[in-house]
Amino acid sequence: MDNVAHTLENLHTETRSFRPHASFAAHANATSYEYKKAGVDRLQYWREAALRLAWREPFTEILDWSDAPVARWFHDGTLNACDNAVDRHVREGRGDRVAFHFVGEPGDTATLTYADMHERVQKAANGLLSLGVTTGDRVAIYLPQIPEAVVAMLACARIGAIHSVVFGGFSAESLRQRIDDAEAKLVITADGGNRRGAHLALKPLVDDALAGPEGQGPAASVEHVLVVRRTGQHTAWTEGRDVWWHDAVDPQPAAHEPVWVEAEHPLFILYTSGTTGTPKGLWHSTGGYLTGAAHTHRLVFDLKPETDVYWCTADVGWITGHSYIVYGPMINGATQVLYEGTPNTPHEGRWWEIVEQYKVTILYTAPTAIRTFMKWGEAIPQQYDLSSLRLLGSVGEPINPEAWMWYRRVIGGDRCPIVDTWWQTETGAIMISPLPGVTATKPGSAMTPMPGVCMDVVDDAGRPVANGEGGYLVATEPWPSMLRGIWGDRHRYVSTYWNHFDGMYFAGDGAKKDVDGDLWLLGRVDDVMNVSGHRLTTTEIEHSLVSHPWVAEAAVVGAADEVTGQAVVAFVIVRSDAHGVPTDGDEVAAALREHVRRQIGALAKPRTILVVSEVPKTRSGKIMRRLLRDVAENRPTGDVTTLADPTVMDAIRVGLDAGTGD
Ligand code: WTA
Repeated sequence: MDNVAHTLENLHTETRSFRPHASFAAHANATSYEYKKAGVDRLQYWREAALRLAWREPFTEILDWSDAPVARWFHDGTLNACDNAVDRHVREGRGDRVAFHFVGEPGDTATLTYADMHERVQKAANGLLSLGVTTGDRVAIYLPQIPEAVVAMLACARIGAIHSVVFGGFSAESLRQRIDDAEAKLVITADGGNRRGAHLALKPLVDDALAGPEGQGPAASVEHVLVVRRTGQHTAWTEGRDVWWHDAVDPQPAAHEPVWVEAEHPLFILYTSGTTGTPKGLWHSTGGYLTGAAHTHRLVFDLKPETDVYWCTADVGWITGHSYIVYGPMINGATQVLYEGTPNTPHEGRWWEIVEQYKVTILYTAPTAIRTFMKWGEAIPQQYDLSSLRLLGSVGEPINPEAWMWYRRVIGGDRCPIVDTWWQTETGAIMISPLPGVTATKPGSAMTPMPGVCMDVVDDAGRPVANGEGGYLVATEPWPSMLRGIWGDRHRYVSTYWNHFDGMYFAGDGAKKDVDGDLWLLGRVDDVMNVSGHRLTTTEIEHSLVSHPWVAEAAVVGAADEVTGQAVVAFVIVRSDAHGVPTDGDEVAAALREHVRRQIGALAKPRTILVVSEVPKTRSGKIMRRLLRDVAENRPTGDVTTLADPTVMDAIRVGLDAGTGD
């Protein structure tokens, strides 16, 4: 509870509250009736939500919890995710509606209607079949944010293959780990992507991943690599294994009957950092997951598919992209913006230019982006016409009240409701959020659980805390889009999420109920860090650091950072017997940072690496990260009485003052 205690101290009492405008409420998809309905009969509420999907065979049972904590929702029904996201719209006369306004980083654009998507997913499904991929096989997708990423995911779903999207910022080694764990048969990638005006190669990373480091050898499961030509850069080619997308997919017939799967058929695996070193392959079902994604998307974003232009700025490589670019919005027939690039390429007004150009009405982004824009100054967004916006969303980390107020005023012109949405890769869909048009919002609070979702804040003994108190965030009942497990490891699923509090799902977050019972999220209470909304664990970065020949020991903490929320700060002890270690701490730090980038990916690179002579440990040998956080955040050191050697902290401070740090 280290983090919780610390944040609780700093949490001031918020008195501002913003009631929904009457004009918004008058047309909102959600009314307070949602809460009433769900309160009267929760399962019936979810049944109705599920019935909005297109089912091939209807389900008769809503929830089977007999094998708890593995839930089965709507299990005797059959459906297909791609049919729901694409075919259905064409079938029901919406084929001409734009699904995506694609904006490439270099300025190339494409408009794809639902009919265009229909043609593409059928060709891609036939392409996958021609490469020997069938129902139940796993497919790794390692692509930039381009339409083919969406098409690839949906084509997998169409044939009942299970996609495992790996964010393009992960290293070859991280990709390999994920390919091996899921035993992927196919990898879909591109020659490269565009990043800040340069071509970033992807295919060579796949080649490295598949070749494997010395001693490991080639990835056993992979038969083919399907490569999209995006940048046109030169690409090494393994004959027989590598296939161009334009050769394998484009000439295929645009006719393919979706494979109807049972509701519990796995739709995808998505890897996320766990508290131990290796990433967990969380997997989601088809029927329950789609119900959660589509239902929450319709209520929380108030989507009016005929008139709205919706833009979620997440990458499809994260759960936000899965649930709120691909599945939720497409099932609801949304028109979306899909943007490949970064916010400041070629200039710091890029996002606002896109909002103006496409008349975006709903924007969903992360607090770290908002804080970055605050830093760049409000004069930049003010140069653009943002009057089309009518709703703003936030996700990924707690949004501080200053950022919330800035978002509301500068981007939302004081007229747009803000939905601060709390959820996780595990939960599949939004769990805590205001309902626009219904909830009066407080800056910085995600407010209340969604209708049909049961969450609480409990103390160490699992008892609900009173209003005004803090504790651990838990879910007390199963929900349709909950993860079904960790791929291939039921034991780890149970022990990670269900063993902390009897019969409750433990989210890993601290939270506080304010005097009104509204929820304030306080960040992780475990060793998971949240850097720019990306999940990383202290242990995986520590493992990477100690694998470097210079490093004897490493301790990593997430330190508060104004822009990224948290930043990775590493304390390392250099081996006295290692050869060739530079005497300059900066040089050591630079080399280690590069080492972590190569091993895990750029997103895990420590912001700061401090070379120290000791790290603080308890008598039982556990690193006291709380004390290191004090150092990293420049605070006086807290209670040191449990340290094996209480003088260690003084030694670290003195060492750092003497300038051995980076
Ligand atoms: C954090 C991202 C506060 C939280 C969808 C959670 C948040 C982790 C919020 C999951 C929010 C996400 N307020 N904290 N609105 N949204 N988090 O799996 O710590 O990448 O446990 O899912 O992000 O991260 P994940």
